[in-house]
Amino acid sequence: MDKNRVYFFDTTLRDGEQVPGCQLNTVEKIQVAKALEGLGVDVIEAGFPISSPGDFNSVVEISKAVTWPTICALSRAVEKDIDVAAEALKYAKHKRIHTGIGTSDSHIKYKFNATREEILERAVRAVKYAKKYVEDIEFYAEDAGRTENEFLARVVEAVIKAGATVVNIPDTTGYCLPQEYGAKIKYLCDHVDGIENAIISTHCHNDLGMATANTVSGILNGARQCEVTINGIGERAGNTSLEEVAMILRSHKELGLQSGINTQKIYPLSRMVSSLMNMPVQPNKAIVGRNAFAHSSGIHQDGVLKNVQTYEIIDPRDVGIDNNAIVLTARSGHAALKYRLEVLGVHLSDERLDKVYKDFLDLADKKKEIHDDDILLLAGAERTQDHHIRVDWLQATSGIGMKPVASVGLDIAGEKFESAATGNGPVDAAINALRQIVRRHVTIKEFTIQGISQGSDDNCKVHIQVECEGRIYYGFGASTDIVAAAIEAYVDCLNKCTIK
Ligand code: KIV
Ligand code: ZN
Repeated sequence: MDKNRVYFFDTTLRDGEQVPGCQLNTVEKIQVAKALEGLGVDVIEAGFPISSPGDFNSVVEISKAVTWPTICALSRAVEKDIDVAAEALKYAKHKRIHTGIGTSDSHIKYKFNATREEILERAVRAVKYAKKYVEDIEFYAEDAGRTENEFLARVVEAVIKAGATVVNIPDTTGYCLPQEYGAKIKYLCDHVDGIENAIISTHCHNDLGMATANTVSGILNGARQCEVTINGIGERAGNTSLEEVAMILRSHKELGLQSGINTQKIYPLSRMVSSLMNMPVQPNKAIVGRNAFAHSSGIHQDGVLKNVQTYEIIDPRDVGIDNNAIVLTARSGHAALKYRLEVLGVHLSDERLDKVYKDFLDLADKKKEIHDDDILLLAGAERTQDHHIRVDWLQATSGIGMKPVASVGLDIAGEKFESAATGNGPVDAAINALRQIVRRHVTIKEFTIQGISQGSDDNCKVHIQVECEGRIYYGFGASTDIVAAAIEAYVDCLNKCTIK
């Protein structure tokens, strides 16, 4: 093993996909997995197979679709979980089982009602059991960030002896300070017999905004695998973002550390994940945010015009941002659309491409320039196909000095319904009209409208979160008409809560 090589373990499709509202179907997961392979990640955590048949199936299909990276499946330290993980990995060319258990005193006491000795024994048993199926076993010590170092070292030593090839030290709650997390990794390097037989992995959450700092501190103290997600998505405040760690290693050459990441593929993949998961990237997000390379103050602009190095430490082209990217218009042909989609990592069948091209021409009639986000949206627009509630038509009128009013026609499993209502705005009026047809007690908890690029002719995206019978559902809609996008998102929620 090259001691200066940092392995990238991507968990966008497992820890990232756990985020409510970010779920992908198997086809979308394969698309992301193939793009991750193209990016050069070493390991793809493809799912948690015991958690649902959908997750199981995704691990199977990703295992078939991807060649170079190791495919990893998560399990608890439970035999049945490990059996199912091994079965899901059947077709993987390189496979890894990721098993583990909570090691902090609070996990031991409150989650497991057990003792340290019992946890140690379960950890060892799980690794030995998983070893029956595959050679490459990663062990996670959940909540290692708050686990006492001496006990953590005992667990790590025992699981390495049992056959673990990678030991994952998660800061599950995002609590550690960078020097504390780094010291924890160093402690393990210094105190664990046999540590040279395993790779230490970082897995940091961002609850205090320190995930990347902690990961880098871990690497500087001896970790050689980092667990990351695209755009830093993940539970609560998210995981360490892949793009940040990759660019830190690339920018700080003095560290002498290398990775296999082809950084020029970062930006297209960031857009793909954001678009498929309907998860906007904050504009000031490092590396991939809309403003990451935008210089707006006069002093900065002046400096950049004289020499970009005055204020820019990264060349945007190094992360795949192409300011000269072609913008498609109504005159762009089929081939131009296909080419642009492929640059963005989306490969469509001829039949699907024909459909997307038709939608592209419809959109190009409504807005002059079609940007990457627009076409990613079109390429992912199959999600409403099996909705049993559909909007047939919608009309909304609003203005100054008048009461907004909307009428809507719905098709519910083939039956037609119509209704009209007023509201405090056109969206409110249209939703009131819908409520008169679909009489479920649905409360809107969150409503977000996002323009895609710029201009009053822009496509807009609407994300809605509703509560229905104690459960939360997420809906998404996109259109150049803001009321239509909102209604599409609301109907997406209704479809989800009437199925379950
Ligand atoms: O954050 C965490 O502890 C995890 C483990 C399951 C690896 O995601
Ligand atoms: Zn995690």
